[in-house]
Amino acid sequence: MKVARRADIAPFYAMEVLKAANQRAAEGGDVLHLEVGEPGAGTPRAVRAAAQAALVSAHLGYTEAFGLPELRQRIARLYADTYGATVSPERVVLTAGSSAGFVLAFLSAFDRGDRIALGVPCYPAYRNIMLAQGIEPVYLRTDASTRYQPTVAMLEAAGPVDGLLIASPANPTGTMIPPADLFALADYCEKKGIRLISDEIYHGITYGAEAATVAGRAPGAIVISGFSKYYCMTGWRLGWAVVPDDLVRAIERLQQNLFISAPNIAQRAALAAFECEDELRANVATYAQNRALLLDMLPRAGIPDLAPADGAFYIFANVAKLTNDSSEFCRRLLADTGVAITPGIDFDAEQGHAYVRLSFAGSTATIAEAARRIEKWLKR
Ligand SMILES: Cc1ncc(COP(=O)(O)O)c(C=O)c1O
Repeated sequence: MKVARRADIAPFYAMEVLKAANQRAAEGGDVLHLEVGEPGAGTPRAVRAAAQAALVSAHLGYTEAFGLPELRQRIARLYADTYGATVSPERVVLTAGSSAGFVLAFLSAFDRGDRIALGVPCYPAYRNIMLAQGIEPVYLRTDASTRYQPTVAMLEAAGPVDGLLIASPANPTGTMIPPADLFALADYCEKKGIRLISDEIYHGITYGAEAATVAGRAPGAIVISGFSKYYCMTGWRLGWAVVPDDLVRAIERLQQNLFISAPNIAQRAALAAFECEDELRANVATYAQNRALLLDMLPRAGIPDLAPADGAFYIFANVAKLTNDSSEFCRRLLADTGVAITPGIDFDAEQGHAYVRLSFAGSTATIAEAARRIEKWLKR
């Protein structure tokens, strides 16, 4: 029978690496996971306790389409406290992971055939969600000269577009857009009527300057964020979006029909996440230690060309001097050492064969041992 052409999107190769790594583990081999994009630390204790309490005391039916009012208010307060930005709770929608936020954002703001610009390399689901909806991704080629981030000049050169998608800190590069450049992009998009979508899922995980938000700055922009990364709640499937006034009703109708609501128990548990700052800051301190280990080892082992790891928990490394096939490079590294990392092809179909991504979201013991094995392997 027919299989829709729109479902013919690329697989996520990182998941194939995970499969190979798990197979090795099942056969009794040891594996150090530097391929997964999720925090090694578990969900904060207080969040789990809140979920347990909700299991006993709450009805746990659907919530309103936009989510529990108290959680929407708490998220609005986060914008005031963290960035000094005014966000009305009416514009905050809880989504089934930020992934569902992209589905809602694109469906509400763009029609089939519309064009959304985005920097390359990038998180692959962006383009695959666009392609599944008949939206045309317009790739802006980036490099180290702009921290692998798009600029107004690139956008101007791209010709007419309906949207721009940015992420700061970004996956796979970990790079951030300096606030002045971020606001220049936001202002340019407002002026030109280009719908800006700002993926802020890695906010809170930074190693120098804090990330700036476009919430409160660009009235037409959609901000996407969530509980998966900083709050260590990947499997709870809870994200949020701050949506512009002109999209509130459209997104509400789409949410009602596509998802009904985000998971009730995850929303109740997430209310406790805002009280876990000490635990969450300690996680970021661990990532910082892990990052330092890799930034120290990689140049010494012959991989000096690294994207500036400003935030998130990734190092994007150019391995062109060592291989012209990063998939094969990752396969051999895993087979020889048990260290799993991700080839760049997921993030950049054209040039990803020359790059790999290392995730340092695991424990420091794991990253230190992986660093030791990678160095030995490269120097063999
Ligand atoms: C840049 C970026 N955005 C969004 C997501 C999706 O996260 P979730 O759906 O768990 O909120 C990820 C996950 O890895 C990501 O790296």
